[in-house]
Amino acid sequence: MPVEFRHVTKRYAGDLDAPAAVEDLSLTVPAGQTCVLVGPSGCGKTTTLKMVNRLVEPTSGQILIDGVDVARHDPVKLRRGIGYVIQQIGLFPHLTIGGNVAVVPELLGWHAARCRERADELLALVGLDPATYRARYPHELSGGERQRVGVARALAADPPVMLMDEPFGAVDPVVRERLQNEFLRLQADLAKTVLFVTHDIDEAIKLGDRVAVMDVGGRLAQYATPSELLTSPTSEFVARFVGADRGLKRLSLRRVGELPLAMPPVARVGDEAGPARARTLADPFPYLLLLDGLGRPVGWLDRDRIPTEGLLEERLAVPMSPLLEPETTLRDALSMLLAAEVQAGLVVDPRGAMVGMVTADQIGATLRAEGGRTAEGRRPAAAGGTR
Ligand SMILES: Nc1ncnc2c1ncn2[C@@H]1O[C@H](COP(=O)(O)OP(=O)(O)OP(=O)(O)O)[C@@H](O)[C@H]1O
Ligand SMILES: [Mg+2]
Repeated sequence: MPVEFRHVTKRYAGDLDAPAAVEDLSLTVPAGQTCVLVGPSGCGKTTTLKMVNRLVEPTSGQILIDGVDVARHDPVKLRRGIGYVIQQIGLFPHLTIGGNVAVVPELLGWHAARCRERADELLALVGLDPATYRARYPHELSGGERQRVGVARALAADPPVMLMDEPFGAVDPVVRERLQNEFLRLQADLAKTVLFVTHDIDEAIKLGDRVAVMDVGGRLAQYATPSELLTSPTSEFVARFVGADRGLKRLSLRRVGELPLAMPPVARVGDEAGPARARTLADPFPYLLLLDGLGRPVGWLDRDRIPTEGLLEERLAVPMSPLLEPETTLRDALSMLLAAEVQAGLVVDPRGAMVGMVTADQIGATLRAEGGRTAEGRRPAAAGGTR
């Protein structure tokens, strides 16, 4: 369902001279797409979201969901039909994880068994094993796990529209990157109409089909695809917000999964060392990658240090390369590779199994090729699905 803002203004104080929190905002989020609202603190992002589910009423203007003014809906019913992930997660501390996820289905009067099933299904969907997590309480989870529960809870009643207010704000960069990748995979399947708020322009570029850059006073500075934003910012403010390193940022438009992935010589723990050594010596890539029984990378063996006989053991392997996912942006991949000992990143699937290898040189070559080009319109879809 599309969400449309028509000349929406919000002044909290109510008097007309007060500065607006949101000023004459008009934009349409097409059905099934992700619109990311980005801008400095206090520019009206949260206010914009809250007007969609009527936690805040606009001073003037209209918001339409699927062509119907939200003011015509009963606010309580409206909210049950819209997923909402709030800033600071906001899980109920006295409810279990399963209970938290099932809050809305319970309010909707679903049978208890169906509520439980749905909670389990969603926990699995966001990467939390239901058997492990459903009976725990929020304080027994890490920050990243709580963020996932927040997303699961918002998805519970399968709402066509999702409001996500800095859903990945409170976690470290590594967890954040994984949550972003999960979001992209989920959205490729679920195709919700999403309004997503962030402070972080890189997150906006990575996740948005369209990005709304807002300026203080709640004014919309630019509403465009990530690629347009990077190639043609329409004002000084947007150009500054996007940053001087726009060329480098364009690497955020591309995903690791779009590159032709190379494969180093590989062997499994417990394989015969001799043949693995022979294969590695014959390969232009000077290291052997050791995998465990499930195909997950264990570490590297320098070709000269592979035993001539016996079995390959885990203890022979030396430091790991960074693990990347197909959804990882080239920008994130590059910064991980530059910080790593081995400048080859291992791309793994959601189960951690080896898919292929990406090198810093490869990304450098992509950057140089991109540099010659201008606006490309819509970026290619992520590996593993269209959006
Ligand atoms: N309930 C309220 N009453 C009065 N003023 C408010 C209220 N909520 C927000 N404001 C003001 O409205 C403006 C926009 O706030 P909002 O929370 O929408 O910003 P934001 O972009 O989400 O900021 P942040 O990035 O810090 O979360 C701010 O100046 C804020 O002080
Ligand atoms: Mg906010």
